[in-house]
Amino acid sequence: METVLYHTISEVKEKVREWKRAGLTIGLVPTMGALHIGHASLMKAAREKCDRVVASVFVNPIQFGPNEDFDKYPRTLEADVKLAGECGVDVVFAPSPKEMYGEGIKLSNDLLTYVCPPFDYVDKLCGKSRPGHFDGVCTVVNKLFNIASPDFAFFGEKDAQQLIIIKKMVKDLNMNLEIVPCPIVREEDGLAVSSRNTYLSAEARKKAPTVYKALCEVRNLISKGVDNREILLDSALNVLDKDIELEYLEFVNISDLSISSKVTLKNLIVIAVKLDGVRLIDNIFPKG
Ligand code: PAF
Repeated sequence: METVLYHTISEVKEKVREWKRAGLTIGLVPTMGALHIGHASLMKAAREKCDRVVASVFVNPIQFGPNEDFDKYPRTLEADVKLAGECGVDVVFAPSPKEMYGEGIKLSNDLLTYVCPPFDYVDKLCGKSRPGHFDGVCTVVNKLFNIASPDFAFFGEKDAQQLIIIKKMVKDLNMNLEIVPCPIVREEDGLAVSSRNTYLSAEARKKAPTVYKALCEVRNLISKGVDNREILLDSALNVLDKDIELEYLEFVNISDLSISSKVTLKNLIVIAVKLDGVRLIDNIFPKG
């Protein structure tokens, strides 16, 4: 079947009603575009599991802080539709901000109904340096769920905090769908694939794989029984390229995102760094 590109909510809703009437299951892959092999793995997983697949391409203004990269975020719709087609996506939904949030609306929570995840889930890790980010994510994801009425929605494990928060939202608000987590896709040198990798200079790109190397080093030590946070942190700093600034390295419980004071084999190891002005995140399980 040919991939169709829709820009309006009503077109998607009409198609979804038709599919539902025919008793078909729907998979949704929410994205901000600049699609790469990581997104392709999500779209292929959706294709395998569902009768029909919608991929949204929307650079969501309300999840970016005032000094973040909303304006320069890569926008490559033509290539995105092509890749989505190759992955068997039925509908690409690429709305404008006006279509999603209405005419002239100031995107503050004075004027827009927001979905805000619990404080305990957002006052740490990426949420600490990106205030309001996860309110913006949950709000847009909620809107996308209402528009596409998916039975399954596919999210990458690279954005671990986002994934855990979205699962929490689905549970707390009794949403009628299943979240399907998909494994991190890596370049050959270990760097986790991300649309923001394109911001890296050639020189920085060569240094970036030390982020994954640092995670592997920490995992290795944990598997040998090291559970002291300072020792683990030092070992990561020794492996990270000296031009990489560490924002956080933490050990979290994936059930509730709480941070472990005593590191165990069950904790997810999460990291965020800045390299060349670019923020990179990654994570790994001790027994990966
Ligand atoms: O992970 C992303 O690309 C975005 O945060 C998402 C889930 C598409 C919401 O805008």
